[in-house]
Amino acid sequence: MKILGIESSCDDTAVALLECSEQGHIIISEATASQINVHSRYGGVIPEIAGRLHAEHITPLIEQVLGKTKPDAIAVTAGPGLITGLVVGVEAARTLAALWNVPLIATNHIDGHIHAVEVGSDEQPSSPIIFPALALVVSGGHTELVFMPERGTYERIGKTKDDAVGECFDKVGKLLGLAYPGGPKISTLAEHGNRQAIDLPRPMHDQPNYDFSFSGLKTAALYYLRDHLLTTESARADFCASFEEAIADVLVHKTMRAVQEFTPTSVLLGGGVAANNHLRKRLAEQLQKQFPETILRLPLPYYTTDNGAMIAVAGYYQTQKNKTTPWQKISVSPQWHVGDIFSE
Ligand code: KG4
Ligand code: ZN
Repeated sequence: MKILGIESSCDDTAVALLECSEQGHIIISEATASQINVHSRYGGVIPEIAGRLHAEHITPLIEQVLGKTKPDAIAVTAGPGLITGLVVGVEAARTLAALWNVPLIATNHIDGHIHAVEVGSDEQPSSPIIFPALALVVSGGHTELVFMPERGTYERIGKTKDDAVGECFDKVGKLLGLAYPGGPKISTLAEHGNRQAIDLPRPMHDQPNYDFSFSGLKTAALYYLRDHLLTTESARADFCASFEEAIADVLVHKTMRAVQEFTPTSVLLGGGVAANNHLRKRLAEQLQKQFPETILRLPLPYYTTDNGAMIAVAGYYQTQKNKTTPWQKISVSPQWHVGDIFSE
């Protein structure tokens, strides 16, 4: 079936039209309008500006992606996220669902990031997740470990107690004088650095749970940068590499402990920080070493950050379970947790 996916929960307005089936999903058309250039002037996402820009972009993007096609269903991110952006996507989606009399699917943004691993390309065709699965979702707003015994069942086994990992990357990026978002820039600078050069903390690494904390690492980075002037390229590279290593150590270690306990068939990575090459590499190496029989599913880099295709795929599986929402009843849910959907 043809599903229109609409995403506007943060700073990207993203729309995609997919042909979805049990065998896999094919992208017919997709488009994203990024607001990064505007928000980077302020050092972070300004909700009021985000809402206004989503409102400007959404109709042209939907027209561009759909052309003359009428979708069989519309999936839209209803939460979690910034309310100013969510309302724009949800209002657009419910209007079209009412006009065309097609099912409306209120989709969970985190569920979208989890399903991004099913979005394929010509080189890497789409294939379904094999359950039970364990997902590590790492983005600007979330850091979570989610166990899914079967499709549609979610158990959040761990989460961050304070900053999300992407937020930590961005805040430390700001301390380094890098434009928002700092994550990708730190990652590039880290490529030629020595990962053992600076001893930074690994918060909650040894605690017997699956929770995370990144504010202590951010503070340690702040003190280090206060006390050391990074005047050379190599000093900056060493700092970025050591910082990235501290983050990867914690994320990989906790994920391996969860694999040990929950014995999933697949491990999935999702969210903006899933674009981080070092994290992808460390996760792959460690899983191969400790649990070689476990399948690792990494999203294509383009689908790590917010996009419409992941929302269409997550929405497709909801329609298969008849979890749709009448257009009269949909509303935004900025505080949703993974697995939360409208129960109708
Ligand atoms: O999923 P996303 O687009 O938006 C949210 O739902 O939050 O994630 C954006 C986050 C930002 O914090 C950004 O710095 C981070 O993903 N990010 C990265 C990389 N690419 C994006 N962090 C580290 N390394 C990267 N290569
Ligand atoms: Zn996201």
